[in-house]
Amino acid sequence: MTNQPRTAETPLPESFEGIRIAPSILSADFGKLGAQIAEVMDAGARVIHFDVMDGQFVPPITIGPLVLAGIADQVHDAGGVVDVHLMIDNPDRQFEDFAKAGADAITFHEEATPHAHRCCHAIRELGCLAGVAINPGTPVEAVAELKGMADMVLAMTVNPGWGGQPFIETSPDKVRRLRSLVGEDTLIEVDGGIGTGTIGRMAEAGATLFVAGSAIFNAPDPAQAYADILAAA
Ligand code: DX5
Ligand code: ZN
Repeated sequence: MTNQPRTAETPLPESFEGIRIAPSILSADFGKLGAQIAEVMDAGARVIHFDVMDGQFVPPITIGPLVLAGIADQVHDAGGVVDVHLMIDNPDRQFEDFAKAGADAITFHEEATPHAHRCCHAIRELGCLAGVAINPGTPVEAVAELKGMADMVLAMTVNPGWGGQPFIETSPDKVRRLRSLVGEDTLIEVDGGIGTGTIGRMAEAGATLFVAGSAIFNAPDPAQAYADILAAA
């Protein structure tokens, strides 16, 4: 994609505004990935969450720019955006390839680089929303100096690496502190263990973008599961 560079003043794409559920395709059936994406987008989803793991930052290896390029047109044609979550070391080496493959937002982990400020700038230069993720063990203060540089902060509500893990119960308190730290102009995304039983507490704490993987794609009816989670927000 050849987006214009972003700045702190560039408006958010509409798909990221308000309360949004971002189905994570990590839990989808990759043998029918296009159909699974169509199912949740037909149900109203506009943010597709794309989990990249390198076998280094986290043990598993998942998917990369080739798979992103395979789904990006479908998501964009349906009026949606792709939210790329990089759980990888040396994330700055990969930004350009993911932007070219169709990423709309690129989130790297604060723990994976000493150069978070430069990473945010590099992602914006590629025309994507810049996101910085923090692990459950990382204090919210780790992103304090990125205000105005990061378009969003992703607070992990499980340890990264696997779908289907139990929600960490101290997360609402952490996100409340994160919201007061970053103010209202930064998106707060939460990822891990989100479903009908947890989303209400996270919305109340100040998150607006909710990743849900197993709660959607492991459900008998992903479209219904998407609707139920949204209703519970
Ligand atoms: C885990 C990934 C998540 C994962 C969440 O490291 O970042 O996006 O898909 O899965 P659930 O919603 O099942 O906890
Ligand atoms: Zn994720």
